[in-house]
Amino acid sequence: MDKSAIVCLEKVGVTYQHRLFALKSISLQLNRGEFAVVLGASGAGKSTLLRTINHLTPPTQGRIIVDGLGELSNSHRLRSHRKQTGMIFQQHQLIERCSALDNVMMGRLAYHSFWRSLLPLPQSDQKIALQCLDRVNLIDKALTPVKKLSGGQKQRVGIARALAQHPQLMLADEPIASLDPASSHQILSLLRTICKTDGISTLLSLHQVEFAREYSDRIIGLARGRIVFDGPSSKLERHHLEEIYPVEEIYPGRSLQAVI
Ligand SMILES: Nc1ncnc2c1ncn2[C@@H]1O[C@H](COP(=O)(O)OP(=O)(O)O)[C@@H](O)[C@H]1O
Ligand SMILES: [Mg+2]
Repeated sequence: MDKSAIVCLEKVGVTYQHRLFALKSISLQLNRGEFAVVLGASGAGKSTLLRTINHLTPPTQGRIIVDGLGELSNSHRLRSHRKQTGMIFQQHQLIERCSALDNVMMGRLAYHSFWRSLLPLPQSDQKIALQCLDRVNLIDKALTPVKKLSGGQKQRVGIARALAQHPQLMLADEPIASLDPASSHQILSLLRTICKTDGISTLLSLHQVEFAREYSDRIIGLARGRIVFDGPSSKLERHHLEEIYPVEEIYPGRSLQAVI
């Protein structure tokens, strides 16, 4: 593992129900401070890859090694890794009836023991949560129940919750999948600015090529559980896209141009 690496995957494989190979021998190094996108069609294995990095879906083969912790081989290391890894989900995974602030406070739970987290969290955590809401420009909605927020605002609460963890790695699974184009640009631009400012390494999955090209430093193209491209966004060419999006397989009779 070299100095710039924050997480290394070595020949990681994931099998669901003993038969389907969702990830096949993935070797990958995520570097400090980079903003990388996993690009792939539906079913390519993007969510599985992101979930495997913090063992929400444990790998069935291979090893995951984290800078400063070593191989994720025991529950103590895994807990430390999860604490420093923020996660943003496609469907927000927020508690709708609770306020934006209460949801962001959830990001602080990893800093407390189970028993302590049953009591109201200290003022210092509330202060951190408010600062995070301010960074995503939602301080005026701190006390608003999440169910009253728009899709873009909910995703900003999701970003603030992940930030409240003070992560060094951010994993975002299709964070713009349910947003309109204007909100998508706003979310990606906000996420990139914050992660670059704070030096948080980010891996997010997307299925839209243009968003990936515009916002990422690096693109990792995934097709049928394998990496078919890994390089700077500027090096992604048409023949790579044809591998990432096996058009005939997904949309029989349609051209690549019509699909992306
Ligand atoms: N919990 C699961 N059980 C069984 N198969 C799954 C599960 N989650 C995903 N899969 C399968 O694994 C493959 C990769 O899925 P996924 O990682 O969700 O891809 P993507 O996020 O790129 O759409 C697909 O064939 C999908 O049907
Ligand atoms: Mg997915």
